[in-house]
Amino acid sequence: MNNVEQTLSIIKPDAVERNLDNEIKQMFISKGFKIVQEKKIQIEKSEAEKFYKVHETKPFYNDLCSYLSSGPIVAMILEKENAVLANRDLMGATNPKDAAEGTIRKKYGISIDKNSVHGSDSLENARIEIEFFFKD
Ligand code: CMP
Repeated sequence: MNNVEQTLSIIKPDAVERNLDNEIKQMFISKGFKIVQEKKIQIEKSEAEKFYKVHETKPFYNDLCSYLSSGPIVAMILEKENAVLANRDLMGATNPKDAAEGTIRKKYGISIDKNSVHGSDSLENARIEIEFFFKD
């Protein structure tokens, strides 16, 4: 069955700051993802608040939005069969301490906040998140 999907991935400030963006992109490519579009940008805190609106009631929301806007990030549209799930598998658990061997967060994540990558958690959110970064 051909079920090609697109999902959004963000290489977060902690990883870009350590110049890990190319290594992380290579991990995606070696797992068969196509990077359809990408851009390196720094967003305003107000934009981070919009992006993470789903978390607005969480105690970590303010720190999360400050963090995502604290430095350059790389936003990418990734494409592959079952890309949403495949990306989540490759990223590993949210907390790098719990992430499995071979995952991006296990390899590069520093903490639950500085966990190096974000990925859409559903196909519906993937569409919303892709639209957020790549409207035009
Ligand atoms: P991400 O996949 O980008 O989605 C929301 C982010 O919130 C998550 O990765 C973590 O980096 C961050 N975060 C901070 N604290 C928590 C927490 N207690 N539970 C889940 N996510 C958290």
